[in-house]
Amino acid sequence: MGIIDWATSPWGEDVPVHISFFLLWVSAIAGLLFLIIHAIWVRYFAKAEAFAGATPPALASSIPAKVPRHSLAARLFHWIMAAAMFALLITAFLPKVGVQFPWVTYHWIAGLVLTASILFHIVHASFWLDFKSIWPDKIDLQDGVRRLQRATGKNAPVPRRSGKYPLENKMYHAVIVLAGLSVMITGVFMMSRVRTPIFLRNPYLFGDMTWGMMYVLHGLAGVGLIALIMVHVYFAVRPEKLVITKSMVFGTLDRDHYLHHHDPQRWPVTGSSPEERQMTA
Ligand code: HEM
Repeated sequence: MGIIDWATSPWGEDVPVHISFFLLWVSAIAGLLFLIIHAIWVRYFAKAEAFAGATPPALASSIPAKVPRHSLAARLFHWIMAAAMFALLITAFLPKVGVQFPWVTYHWIAGLVLTASILFHIVHASFWLDFKSIWPDKIDLQDGVRRLQRATGKNAPVPRRSGKYPLENKMYHAVIVLAGLSVMITGVFMMSRVRTPIFLRNPYLFGDMTWGMMYVLHGLAGVGLIALIMVHVYFAVRPEKLVITKSMVFGTLDRDHYLHHHDPQRWPVTGSSPEERQMTA
C-alpha cells in the first residue's frame, strides 16, 4: 500500500493520480497522539514556567490593564479563515470516509474564501502589522535551545520572556503557511479541472504528470492540515491558553499575563509603537 495512487496515461506512462486516502487516518492519529503525549507531559513531567528578567515598576505601571493584541481586522481574518478551513476539511474528507454528497462545489467555494482571506492577510500583515513579529529571531532560537536543555535536566540559563509571539507559535505559523499556500495555489489551478461559473473548464492546462503531482501536493498538504488544525484547537482550549484564545475574540490580553510572559522591550505597547499603530489598523 503506497502513499500515492498511480494510473497509466493514454501514452502508457505511469502517472500519479492523488494520495492514498488512508493518509487521512495517519494524520488524524498522529494529531491525536501528539495531544495525548503533550497532555501527559504537561500534567506529570513539565516544570513550572520560569522567565528571566522583570519589567521595571515605572514601565509596568504604564502598561494598560487590557493590552491590545489583535486588531478587529486581524480577528475577522482569523475567524473567516478558520470557518473556511473547517468547511474545506469537512467537504474534502467526509466523502473519503463514506459520507457521499456533492462536495466539490462547496469545497471550491470555501477554497475561494480561504484564498481571499489569505491574500488579505498577506497584504494586511505586510503593510499594517509588525511583519517581523511572527518570524523566529536569534533570541527565540537561543531560548528554545535553553528550554530544551532545561527540560532534559541540563544546566542552562533561564530563558527570557518572548516578544509578541513565543517560538512555538512562530514555528506553527511557518508550517501552516507552507501547508496553506500549498493547498491554496494547487487548489486554484485544480478549479480549472471542475465546472465552475468562474473559469472555462480546461483539464488540458497541464500534462498528466503535472496534474498528478498537483493533486498529490494538494492531498498531502490537505491531510497534513488535519493534524495541524487538531493541534491548534487543542492548544486553544487548554486551560492555561484560554487567555490567548480570548484575545482572539476580544482583542486584548490582561496586563499581568503580558508582564509575566512578554518582554516590553521586544513587544512594546506604550508610546507610539508599531503595535499601537497596528491596533488602530
Ligand atoms: C484545508 C484546505 C484544503 C483541504 C484539506 C483540501 C483537500 C482536498 C482533497 C483531499 C481533495 C481531493 C483531491 C483528490 O481527489 O486527489 C481536494 C480536491 C479539490 N480541492 Fe481542495 N483542499 C483544501 C483547499 C482547497 C482550496 C483553497 C481550493 C481552491 C481555491 C481547493 C480546490 C479544490 C478543487 C477544485 C478540488 C477538486 C478537484 C477535482 O475533483 O478534480 N481546495 N481538496
